[in-house]
Amino acid sequence: MPGSGAGNDVPEVGTGLPVAPETSVMPLTASLVDSIGTLDPLPLTAQRLIQVVADEDSSFEDIVRVVEHDPAVGANVLRLANSTLYAGRFKVERLRDAVIRLGPATLMEIALGGYLKRVSCKAPMYDLSEDELFMHSAVASLAIQEISREASEVIPPTASLAALLHDIGKLIMARFQKVSAADVTRICEEKGVSFTEGERLLFGCDHAEVGGAIARSWDFPAGVVEAIERHHDFPLKSGSISLDAVVAANYIAKTIGVGLGAEGLNLKLDQDCLRRLGLEFDKFCRVCARTSARVEDLRRAYGLA
Ligand SMILES: [Fe+2]
Ligand SMILES: [Fe+2]
Repeated sequence: MPGSGAGNDVPEVGTGLPVAPETSVMPLTASLVDSIGTLDPLPLTAQRLIQVVADEDSSFEDIVRVVEHDPAVGANVLRLANSTLYAGRFKVERLRDAVIRLGPATLMEIALGGYLKRVSCKAPMYDLSEDELFMHSAVASLAIQEISREASEVIPPTASLAALLHDIGKLIMARFQKVSAADVTRICEEKGVSFTEGERLLFGCDHAEVGGAIARSWDFPAGVVEAIERHHDFPLKSGSISLDAVVAANYIAKTIGVGLGAEGLNLKLDQDCLRRLGLEFDKFCRVCARTSARVEDLRRAYGLA
């Protein structure tokens, strides 16, 4: 286990790959930067919610107002608040009660969920179907909720947004880099590197860096950009709690088998990230189990069951 010898650590996955130097963001090629502009713009409600949730001075009423102004989002908020994924003892009928039940992170998921499903494309380079790509992101976001219950640190609500969008760079890579999953895995085996390192060897950048560039082009808060851009950094010596949470959430989604694709478990997790979150082995296992138990409800909530 890198950086540890403790027997209580989360077992490392991967195959004893050489330790890569801590990654640094490289400039993207002009064609990749151009292709980012071809993504559909974010829905207005999602843009507003992101800004309101990230603003420490905004109030609960500000959030309710954003949701009230979008009838489609409002209807989905009510539907999800009464779904098996979130249902409480009582049915909620007022929008503001549904907003209280779901919380800001889930509201952002609703505002972005339709968008992500719409822009998701088959990603043969990652050996992921559209639904798998979407579910992996949605489950990572769900894992953030469960991490929040166990972690010793307070997880900011924007971490959920970053988790939901952490692999957005894969959309651009899959659309514009015409290689197969076998091409990437071949170079990984030849060089003995992780899947992300394989991307970097082939293209000069990886999907996390592309995702960071997308988030920056959408004017996302700096913490969200960082969490998306650095979610495959290894070792992860420094970073925000949001970044640590997203790294852990990605790992948890993979550990419970959602969105494995060609990368599989050929990724590395810096144990310091879990330590900073206060997620010891038993807590990590509980987060995995609780997240896994909610996956089918999540599929149903998004019409993928
Ligand atoms: Fe990723
Ligand atoms: Fe991921």
